[in-house]
Amino acid sequence: MIITHENLWWWGKSYTLILDNGKAMIEVSIEDERPDAACIQSLLVHESVRQQGIANAMLTFAEDKAKKAGCEQVYLCARKGTFLIPWYERRGYKIYDENPEYSKGQTVAMNKYFEEKE
Ligand SMILES: CC(C)(COP(=O)(O)OP(=O)(O)OC[C@H]1O[C@@H](n2cnc3c(N)ncnc32)[C@H](O)[C@@H]1OP(=O)(O)O)[C@@H](O)C(=O)NCCC(=O)NCCS
Repeated sequence: MIITHENLWWWGKSYTLILDNGKAMIEVSIEDERPDAACIQSLLVHESVRQQGIANAMLTFAEDKAKKAGCEQVYLCARKGTFLIPWYERRGYKIYDENPEYSKGQTVAMNKYFEEKE
């Protein structure tokens, strides 16, 4: 089963994708104050269905939503020392902040422009 929601908030909007009776989800949000950039959050796949390409497919869904909404870039946080950073790099993301203020040294902030900047 696949569920998609478009959620409207006072600060903007978000799209949620839920798969496999809640075993996997992703959310991408776009703030009205920053319509050029979409934030990927709540990317989660249950242990029983990991390493089958579900996160890759959901990230493509989220990036497509951001593109269609007119965003120029997507950004996210990835925990240091995990496979996440090299995976996002393989998908075209780059680290733009090694030590975001809110992360207490545990994550990096990464982003990806849909059209590569000169
Ligand atoms: C991160 C997470 C969503 C990945 O879900 P998944 O469905 O297993 O991922 P996929 O099968 O689509 O694999 C995505 C990529 O990561 C790699 N990967 C997945 N699990 C891995 C592991 N345990 N070790 C090394 N690489 C791994 C895959 O090889 C793949 O890379 P590729 O496309 O270049 O070949 C899942 O592990 C999870 O929910 N983790 C806990 C929450 C979390 O960390 N969320 C991310 C927040 S930024």
